[in-house]
Amino acid sequence: MEIVVSGIRPTGNLHLGNYFGAVQSFIKMQHEYNCFFFIADWHSLTTHPNPENIRRSVNTILAEYLACGLDPEKATLYVQSDVREVAELYLYLNMCAFLGELERVPTFKEKVRSQPENVNAGLLTYPTLMAADIIIHRAVKVPVGKDQEQHIEMTRKLARRFNQTYGVEYFPEPDSFHLSEKAVKIPGLDGSGKMGKSEGNAIYLADDEKTIHKKVMRAVTDSGPTEPDSEKPEPIQNLFTMMEIVSGKDTYNFFNDKYNACEIRYGDMKKQLAADINAFCAPIRKRIHEIIADEGYLEKVTLMGAEKASASASKTLNDVRRIIGFKSTN
Ligand code: TRP
Repeated sequence: MEIVVSGIRPTGNLHLGNYFGAVQSFIKMQHEYNCFFFIADWHSLTTHPNPENIRRSVNTILAEYLACGLDPEKATLYVQSDVREVAELYLYLNMCAFLGELERVPTFKEKVRSQPENVNAGLLTYPTLMAADIIIHRAVKVPVGKDQEQHIEMTRKLARRFNQTYGVEYFPEPDSFHLSEKAVKIPGLDGSGKMGKSEGNAIYLADDEKTIHKKVMRAVTDSGPTEPDSEKPEPIQNLFTMMEIVSGKDTYNFFNDKYNACEIRYGDMKKQLAADINAFCAPIRKRIHEIIADEGYLEKVTLMGAEKASASASKTLNDVRRIIGFKSTN
């Protein structure tokens, strides 16, 4: 079975955009590939979070993944910092990475611009750590958003350079598997094209009913069409798109017909949409709370993931040490 690796930085909660984007693809992929999904807590150190924050956000994201249906028996779900072999491979890959090419990575240039007071070496070598994450399992596919393409390109380069340096054909060059092209796009309800944390318009899986209602009722609308069968302006189309995803077909058709007949009442539509989003989120929300409260279960899952991921990682590292000329570790 082909090996797939993907990492998620533990920043904030999952929202509907994440759910219908990455998470749904991951849930499908866990049945079709040998998947390693991990929480990139080492990567999050570039911004120096405090220990309590790290623990909390790692547990939160793990609980949310599990609540959505990622299955720790099918995929290997683990925490990056539990697999120390990754750090050793990162060291070796840093010897193959050139300063100039790291400085040219767009995300690094963006950080230099946005946080000139904290341009640490970890930021510069973020792509090497990411490459280590991926090739430690000798993955061939990496499901990520388009924004990660440069990082995957760098991973391919480093895998190739390692092979050339040591005259081996050990690491495959992984391909990205663009989630954004395959996933359902969730619009923002503030008239913007996309739901996102940084866009400030996200509806989170863990939001309670009242919060969902408030967010949906705030959605941008207009004064309604005056011509039958008018084209929908973007904010209105976004509402309908959301309804198409979370409501039944009859509900969608009912409001669509109203719109086409110039009889749409956005207040009613939003109330219905809020109720349907809540109905969708409620069972997931309940599971999130149950899992977060069950520390023993979370611990068991992370332990199991760490064991499976370490087994794969130490095998690679043994080979790598031998290839480089070091003693194997066992
Ligand atoms: N850089 C990725 C992001 O910001 C997270 C990540 C870290 C990752 N390591 C990875 C993704 C390895 C895929 C594979 O989204």
